[in-house]
Order: sequence, then structure tokens, then C-alpha cells
Amino acid sequence: MLTKFLSLVLVCGLIVAVAPASAQQKEYIGAAKCKMCHNKPPQGEQYNKWAASPHAKAFQVLKGDEAKNPKCLKCHSTAAGLVLSDTQTITVAEGVSCESCHGAGSAYKTPTIMKDMAKAMAAGLIMPDEKLCKKCHNADSPNFKGFDFKTYSAKIAHKNPSKGQ
Ligand code: HEC
Ligand code: HEC
Ligand code: HEC
Ligand code: HEC
Repeated sequence: MLTKFLSLVLVCGLIVAVAPASAQQKEYIGAAKCKMCHNKPPQGEQYNKWAASPHAKAFQVLKGDEAKNPKCLKCHSTAAGLVLSDTQTITVAEGVSCESCHGAGSAYKTPTIMKDMAKAMAAGLIMPDEKLCKKCHNADSPNFKGFDFKTYSAKIAHKNPSKGQ
């Protein structure tokens, strides 16, 4: 049972590692680009909330050689495993960036697409669920502290209050 679970976790890990390479046209653009439209306080200042969260510091917590170890980087930096083109603006140092949870943004970032949820999702926007979090929040992490979706989501919440949810 346990071995079954562990191999499942391993397989999931491999899929995560392989995904960016196969998503050819969808490039990672980095948090600074999302910030241009998602940092207004009345709409929930998502960038500032993320920047203050542990995810934005996930690369900085790696010390010395850990910061070059792909085994650590796969969960601690969105950009680390990518082959970046010259035009890509995401950085390794921004840690677990927006696009680890919301999907690579190059195809959905334009305002006309972003305003239409269905179009945005078709262009790669992800609204993350528990399963997505558990790609990193699992026993493969040497510092795993357990994961409760509800309490952990509340800690990183960045909802848009103007939507009245
Ligand atoms: C050019 C402006 C612009 C950029 C750049 C942009 N967005 Fe958006 N985004 C919008 C607008 C406008 C909406 C629709 C209104 C809203 O939900 O805030 C939206 C909606 C969203 C939603 C909510 C979808 C919903 O309806 O609940 C998410 C999630 C999102 N954006 C994530 C991102 C991420 C991640 C990035 C960077 C990779 C990004 N956006 C870049 C303008 C932008
Ligand atoms: C499977 C994903 C994953 C891998 C692989 C991983 N980490 Fe983490 N790491 C996390 C998560 C998630 C947390 C947050 C702790 C928690 O809430 O469980 C974390 C937290 C940390 C912390 C913060 C200190 C703490 O106790 O919270 C450090 C330091 C750290 N990891 C170092 C490493 C190093 C070094 C490696 C490689 C040897 C590594 N991690 C590999 C996911 C991972
Ligand atoms: C790409 C990997 C990754 C994904 C996906 C991810 N996390 Fe994390 N998360 C981390 C790492 C790494 C840390 C530790 C960062 C640090 O200590 O600076 C962390 C830390 C956290 C913390 C702080 C934990 C503490 O000990 O205070 C919370 C809360 C959290 N994540 C919630 C979530 C939620 C909710 C989701 C899904 C919506 C999620 N995470 C998805 C990698 C990830
Ligand atoms: C650790 C995962 C994670 C990261 C990193 C993350 N988000 Fe989110 N985001 C979520 C979750 C979970 C939701 C809520 C989804 C839902 O309501 O179904 C969300 C919701 C949103 C929404 C919709 C808010 C609303 O109420 O309409 C926007 C916009 C958004 N995120 C933008 C961003 C931007 C911009 C960044 C980076 C600066 C970012 N997110 C980083 C997990 C994440």
C-alpha cells in the first residue's frame, strides 16, 4: 500500500518535471508580468500577497549547493527546471511563482483572454486544487510538515474582494 502510494507520488513528480518541455507554445512569463495587472489593493493585490508568502522565498531558503540541486529545485523554483529563451522574464530566484499554480502565462496573459474565464482556461490558466498543491506538499519533501488544504489555502489566500466571494 505504502509503496504503491510512494510510486504514485514519484510518477506525479516525473510528470511535473516533464510538463514544461512539452508545453511548447506556453511559456512561463514570471511574477513581474502578472504584477502589472494583479497588484491593485481593491482587487486583492495578489502580487504583494504572494511576495510576502513563503512561496516567493522558496529559492532563498536553499543554502549553498542545495540551490543547484535539481532534487530540491523541482519544488523550490518554478523556473529552475526550464530551458529559458532570451525573451522569457521568469527568474529562478522568484521561487514558487504564480505559474507553478496557475499554469504558464504567455497564452492567457492578454487582457481580452484574461477577462473571459473560459478562454483563459483554454489558453492554459489553472485554478489550483488540492491535488496541484500536493505535487510539492508531500512526503518527498525532507521538511514535510503535513498538508491540510483548507488551513494551508487560508495562509496564502489572495482572493479578489471586489468579486464578493
Ligand atoms: C494585462 C493584464 C493582465 C495580466 C498581465 C495578467 N492578468 Fe490575470 N487577469 C486580468 C484580468 C483583467 C482578469 C479578470 C478580472 C479578475 O478576475 O481579476 C484576470 C483574471 C485572472 C485570474 C482569475 C480568473 C477568475 O476569473 O477567477 C487569475 C487566476 C489570473 N488572472 C492569474 C494571472 C497570472 C498568474 C498572471 C501572470 C502569469 C496574469 N493573470 C497576468 C488581467 C491580467
Ligand atoms: C516534493 C517537494 C519538495 C522537495 C523535493 C524539497 N522540498 Fe523543501 N519544502 C517543500 C515544502 C512543501 C516545504 C514547506 C514545508 C511544509 O509545510 O511541509 C519545504 C520547506 C523547506 C525548507 C524550509 C524550512 C522548513 O522547515 O520549513 C527548507 C530549508 C527546504 N525545504 C529545503 C529543501 C532541500 C535542501 C531540499 C533538497 C534536498 C528540498 N527542500 C526538497 C517541498 C520540497
Ligand atoms: C511547486 C511547488 C509547490 C506548490 C505547487 C505549492 N507549494 Fe506551498 N510551498 C512550497 C515550498 C517549497 C514551500 C516552502 C517555502 C519556504 O519555506 O520558503 C511552501 C510553503 C507553503 C506554505 C507555508 C507553510 C509553513 O510551514 O508555513 C503554505 C501555507 C503553502 N505552501 C500552501 C500551498 C497551497 C495551498 C498550495 C496549493 C494551492 C501550494 N502551497 C502549492 C512549494 C509548493
Ligand atoms: C501556491 C499556489 C499559488 C500561487 C503561487 C499563486 N496563486 Fe493565485 N490562486 C491560488 C489559489 C488556490 C486560488 C483560489 C482558487 C479558487 O478560488 O478556486 C488563487 C486565486 C487567484 C486569483 C483569483 C482571485 C479571485 O478571487 O478572483 C488571481 C487573480 C490570482 N490567484 C493571481 C495570482 C498571481 C498574480 C500570483 C503570483 C503573483 C499567484 N496568484 C500566485 C494559488 C496560487
